[in-house]
This record gives sequence, C-alpha cells and structure tokens, in this order.
Amino acid sequence: MTGAPQISSLSQHWPPKPKWPLSDIPDLSDRVIVVTGGNSGIGYETVAELMRHKAKVYLATRSKSRADAAIEQLRKLPDINGSVEFVELDLGDFRSIEAFAKNFAAREKRIDVLFNNAGVACTKPTTTAQGYEAHMGINAIGTHYLTTLLLPLLKAGGVAHPDFPTRVVFTSSYMHILAPPKGFDAEDPLAEKVSPPFGFNRMLQLYGLSKFCNILSARYFQRSYGSDNIIFTSVHPGAVRTNLANDANAVVSFIKDYVVSYVMISAKQGAYTQLYAGFSPGGLIGGAYFVPYGREAATVEQGNDIKAQDAFAKWADEEVAKHPA
Ligand SMILES: NC(=O)c1ccc[n+]([C@@H]2O[C@H](COP(=O)([O-])OP(=O)(O)OC[C@H]3O[C@@H](n4cnc5c(N)ncnc54)[C@H](OP(=O)(O)O)[C@@H]3O)[C@@H](O)[C@H]2O)c1
Repeated sequence: MTGAPQISSLSQHWPPKPKWPLSDIPDLSDRVIVVTGGNSGIGYETVAELMRHKAKVYLATRSKSRADAAIEQLRKLPDINGSVEFVELDLGDFRSIEAFAKNFAAREKRIDVLFNNAGVACTKPTTTAQGYEAHMGINAIGTHYLTTLLLPLLKAGGVAHPDFPTRVVFTSSYMHILAPPKGFDAEDPLAEKVSPPFGFNRMLQLYGLSKFCNILSARYFQRSYGSDNIIFTSVHPGAVRTNLANDANAVVSFIKDYVVSYVMISAKQGAYTQLYAGFSPGGLIGGAYFVPYGREAATVEQGNDIKAQDAFAKWADEEVAKHPA
C-alpha cells in the first residue's frame, strides 16, 4: 500500500526473527479454511499448522493421489487436532474451478479463511485447459476466478463472526518485481510485446507478472468487498525449499538444487508469513503485502495503482467469460 516501508531484498530473504509466535493463533475449532495447493511445500505446512489449532481444513488441489498421500502424512503428525479433507481443484481449468465452488457450497455455508497458495513457477511451456500460458492461466486468472466464485461463502464468513473478518491471503512473491516495466498492461496482458517469445527470461517475466497480478487481485477485491468484513492481503513467503520449479529446465533445476537451496528457508518457515496474514490479531490493513516474517512492505509502484488493479480484474473476468460452461 502507499506508504508501506521499502524492505530490502536482503532483509526479505534473511529476515529478522518473527515477533508474533504461531502459538498465538487462536483455537480454530469453529473455522472453515481452504488451502489451495495444500499437498506440498508451503501449503502443506500451512495445513499442518492450522490442524494444530483444530481447524477444519479443506485441501484443494488437482491430484487426488498426491492429496491423499499428504493427508495420510498430516494425520500422523504429533499434536494434530483438526480435520482435513480433499476437494479437487485444478486452477488451470475454469470448469474445475466452477465444479470446486459448486461442490464446496454444497458442503459448507461459509469460508473463514482462504489461502490462495497454489501456484506454478518456471514450468516448461504449457497451457491451461482453456489455452492460457500456465503461469498466467493458473496463478493469475485461475486464482482470481476461484476467489470471485467463492465470494458468497467468504461474505457469509464475515457475517458469521463480526469480530474476526474473513481473510483471503494471496501467495504472491518477491519475484513480482520481474513483471514487465509497465506491470499489468491491458493492451498487452500476456506481455507478448515486451518479452522475448520464449526462453528463460520470458518464463521468469511471466511468473513475475502472474505474481504481480496476485497483488493487484488482492487490492481489487479489498476495495470491492472489504466492506463485507473481509480482509484481502498478499504475501511473499520467502525463498523457500519446496517442490516449486521442480519440472523446470536443467539450468533452473541446477541453480535451485545446488546454488540457491543452501540459502533457502524451510517450508515450515515459509508458511509463517501467510499464517501471520491469516490470523495475526487486530490492525491488519486490507490490501497490504507482507514479507517474512510478517512485515508489511511496499510492492512495485504500479501495485498501488487502482486503474491497474481494476484493469487486471476486468481482463480476468472477460477472459473467463470467453469460455462459457
Ligand atoms: N518456494 C518459494 O521460494 C516461493 C517464493 C515465492 C512465492 N512462492 C509461492 O508459494 C506458493 C506455494 O508454492 P511452493 O513453493 O510451496 O511450491 P510447491 O511445493 O510446488 O507447491 C505448489 C502447490 O500448488 C499446487 N498447484 C500447482 N498447480 C495447480 C493447479 N493447476 N491447480 C491446483 N493446484 C495446483 C501444487 O499441486 P501439485 O502437487 O498437483 O503440483 C502444489 O500443491 C506458490 O504460489 C508460489 O508461487 C514460493
């Protein structure tokens, strides 16, 4: 948000110790929480922490077998008191997102916290079911569409507990700084005019743009639905050792496994900042962007631009509308 402090890359990636202990997360026995991509990495550790605090967690991801394996492991962890269930969701397919929203509404009357955590990075060039480049299709449009369809349940959460606004946390990234200089450009939404058509730089730019769109989404929803007792935020979780970018090309895999991994934080540490955005008490500013461990920080300048926030939301809605069920 305008006025949020600039926090250096160095401090974001070697952060000071957290001030707010996760043990301060309240008892979540009556809370309904959705974690997209909860079967792996940061999402998995987020689910584990929620279960320690007795939440009813829905693990929303695309592969039943990977979800089942994660759930089996989660249930074996010590101090686990909450519940976890799988609901199928492929953010790369509008039909799957719609089916998820429908199935979920048949099970639950509200959502108290939504962690928009799932994402892909540096994937080999692939497209979603409706033909969008994977980073933009899954991370940006899919996540925005899911949030749109879940709004009635999120609003119901806000009504159910007036003293604890519903929270929606978008897992963005420091890498949003790699979006093209114009950020999101409605005239060139997939950055085709500014990027090389393929290759490493193009992949990084699209990942950066998709993560920048998460920030725009959070701020758009905050302005549009914040008055429904919902707080929308975005976070950079840190540089975290996970399965992200595991299917990238050999160069990325080498850098990840043999160069960067030694300075990365664990997935458990990576879960901290989104848990902070989900549960830290009082005073959380809607639309804020947090970096490890739970510090509000400035994004690139265009992140504050209301026109850019609206332009991304309009574009995402229009793209979805081009592919009716
Ligand atoms: N690791 C980092 O350093 C870092 C830094 C900044 C931001 N982030 C962000 O953190 C988030 C979590 O990533 P991670 O590092 O924990 O990586 P991860 O271990 O690869 O987890 C990513 C999760 O997203 C799920 N996912 C991917 N595509 C999906 C789709 N089409 N539909 C539904 N779920 C899908 C994956 O499910 P599958 O098992 O089916 O693939 C997996 O559960 C991502 O949004 C990422 O951009 C990570």
